[in-house]
Amino acid sequence: MSKKIAVIVGSLREGSFSKQIAKNMMKLFPSDYEPEFVEFGNLPLYNEDIDTPENVPAEYTEFRNKIKDAAGVLFVTPEYNRSIPGGLKNAIDVGSRPYGANAWEKKPAAVVSVSPGAISGFGANHVLRQSLVFLDMPTLQQPEAYIGNVTKILDDNGNVAEGTVGFLQSIVDAYVDLLNRY
Ligand code: FNR
Repeated sequence: MSKKIAVIVGSLREGSFSKQIAKNMMKLFPSDYEPEFVEFGNLPLYNEDIDTPENVPAEYTEFRNKIKDAAGVLFVTPEYNRSIPGGLKNAIDVGSRPYGANAWEKKPAAVVSVSPGAISGFGANHVLRQSLVFLDMPTLQQPEAYIGNVTKILDDNGNVAEGTVGFLQSIVDAYVDLLNRY
């Protein structure tokens, strides 16, 4: 049976560079893995008042079930103001609740930060890791995945240059190793 990998892209933007990098990585998984995008743009802002058995939004339940069904989670995110985009943080919060039913728990994760700039989303990468520690997600440590100057490595069709395929493959391979250990 193939193992689903939830691929969560931190950007909602149609032409997102992060999404293009994610697509390139999804092609590099072994055939017994099934990476698929899990969207979060439709999630209402997290509010404990509506997160009750009577009122819980269907979007929350659907999102949580997709995370629970996945063998692991691959995050590919841009950096917003040296942190992660608010929508991504909202998704993390939604998945973490209700108290005692953390959908992220024990799901092996990998974090890839993407930026047109030279600092490569380092801030976002590590802010995200801070939450993943608390959520109890074993997270790939090496190789680190900071994709800077992203516009220089993507062609007009959204494919990465030859040299970058090998780098992305090394991240996917190490992540698959991590998944196989759990
Ligand atoms: C940015 N951008 C940005 N880039 C960066 O490297 N560090 C940062 O702190 C920020 N901050 C930031 C805040 C906000 C609100 C926006 C909209 C953008 C630029 C960002 O990297 C760029 O827009 C990317 O193209 C966004 O990623 P996607 O949508 O292409 O995946």
